[in-house]
Amino acid sequence: MCGIVGYVGPDEALPIVLEGLRRLEYRGYDSAGVAVLDGGLGVVKRAGKLGELEAALDEEGNPTGSVGMGHTRWATHGAPTDRNAHPHLDCGGHVAVIHNGIIENHQSLRVRLEKEGHSLVSETDTECVAHLVEEKLRDGGPLADAVRAAVRELEGAFSLVVCSLDEPDALVGVKVSSPLIVGLGDGETLLASDIPAVLHRTTTVVPLDEGMLVEVRAAGATFTDLDGMPLDPAPITVDWDVARAQKGGYETFMRKEIDEQPAAIRDTLVGRMVGERLVLDELRGSDDALREVTKVFVVACGTAFHSGLVAKYAIEHWTRLPVEAEIASEFRYRDPVLGPDTLTLAVSQSGETIDTLEAARHARRQGSQVIAVTNTVGSSLAREADGVLYTHAGPEIGVAATKTFATQMVSQYLVALYLAQVRGTKFPEEIAEVLTELDQLPAKVERAIALDDQVRALAERYRDARDVLFIGRHTGYPAALEGALKLKELSYVHAEGHPAGELKHGPIALIEDGVPVVAVATRCHVYPKMLSNIQEVRARGARVIAVATEGDTEVGALADHVLHVPATPELMSPVVVTVPMQLLAYHVATMRGCDVDQPRNLAKSVTVE
Ligand code: AGP
Repeated sequence: MCGIVGYVGPDEALPIVLEGLRRLEYRGYDSAGVAVLDGGLGVVKRAGKLGELEAALDEEGNPTGSVGMGHTRWATHGAPTDRNAHPHLDCGGHVAVIHNGIIENHQSLRVRLEKEGHSLVSETDTECVAHLVEEKLRDGGPLADAVRAAVRELEGAFSLVVCSLDEPDALVGVKVSSPLIVGLGDGETLLASDIPAVLHRTTTVVPLDEGMLVEVRAAGATFTDLDGMPLDPAPITVDWDVARAQKGGYETFMRKEIDEQPAAIRDTLVGRMVGERLVLDELRGSDDALREVTKVFVVACGTAFHSGLVAKYAIEHWTRLPVEAEIASEFRYRDPVLGPDTLTLAVSQSGETIDTLEAARHARRQGSQVIAVTNTVGSSLAREADGVLYTHAGPEIGVAATKTFATQMVSQYLVALYLAQVRGTKFPEEIAEVLTELDQLPAKVERAIALDDQVRALAERYRDARDVLFIGRHTGYPAALEGALKLKELSYVHAEGHPAGELKHGPIALIEDGVPVVAVATRCHVYPKMLSNIQEVRARGARVIAVATEGDTEVGALADHVLHVPATPELMSPVVVTVPMQLLAYHVATMRGCDVDQPRNLAKSVTVE
């Protein structure tokens, strides 16, 4: 979850590196620093946000030079202090290292290095690397070899960028499980942990694969594996222009991304139907293997997990295969029953969530077919899976997942339909009918977004609530979970999602006069039960906000407030009913003065376990 930016080219490195770090701020961080090869090795680093670093640079004077790197740190080992901020140096101050991820054997390395006379001054795992590289450089040879030798002694999931006074014209980067990309510019080359950091300089990028090392010089990049064997990865052209990755006139990325949901759904659906057949070429898997599947797992975290809970209903209904949606960080430790006849869907918008990555790796090791559903081209998950379905939501900068949630559900509907197609559990015309219903989702989401003013008024009324419950049945249950997550992660208000049928088994004890309850009560086979649940909480003083189907007048007699959304087939309704709950969370958080794009304690991509 740390941010990495490096630059080698004809221009001053510092401003370019700082601009790149600004574009990575959404990843969440608590300290920052830069290193510039300016004849010496100029390093400035501070706890806090980039503003603190820039103030320090003003005080100490900006290091000048055309080779530099920068880092934003989200603390994992060691508190967010100046001393623990990156870059970290070796004893002689000749080598600087920045790092993303976790080095699991750093304690034993620290003991060995200190016994050998090295002086380590921080609490971080990263600092070991600088001293290891210092040690390997004593053997002579290029910096790249020293980095390869150092990496061979490291255990964990990380990416690194290293520079040294011994080679003042180069940066060396290496990827071992955490993301790292190279930006190929015009007479300049960049390194970064995420694509937006380089878009102001180039749209041609090379995502590094596992175990790949790159030497970056102004003339370009040289790629090898950790044994030094040359590699020649193909660059990709990113179609996110800088404008699109910016806020485009909105106050926050999140509000912009809520409005982008209809387009994101359309982009995810485009080109999926050729004649009468659904085509998912990215799956790369063989239809025969999919025909042998007897069970499906969906593994993911947070909002992505909620999308998997929704998908479970659709996959089971359309394919008659049993489906288990499981929290990724639980999946690999519960010894799941996996094999060639199981299909594992690993859902992750970043494609770098380490819990989901490790769950997918576990599934593959057990012989399961793994299909990634991700929003990030070239991400680790995309490259490690047997097949990948991209969600095409475009960059989602706000930490709270909105448009990627919608496209994760839509993509999993496509996987479910594809399974039904290859297994013959649905006729072509039935599949075509469902695809037509999917094509209608963008317009329905547009109409749900149009509830914004009504939702804002409700947010004004309930902005100071201490506890909020979200309830639903069938696909309304994962929608309720997602609504609760949005409210709690954005506004820091305590919110819980529950299956409505569970209220009487405990949660109803939370109901007292004035407690807001958001009830997902759209027309479906469990609607009458939802009406009963609304009555049981209102009888105890709850203030009920019902999300109901346009034209429904019945629920209005029971609830305090009704948000009417367009009628949608039940299996797809979470794509639509979640929108007013996203807006509710957004407005409550804004009214409470919360940082909507970067909620406290959270990061956009959780790359540490
Ligand atoms: C949701 O709003 C949060 N940002 C968080 O729960 C997120 O969905 C989760 O961390 C998974 O992220 P991923 O999709 O990148 O794997």
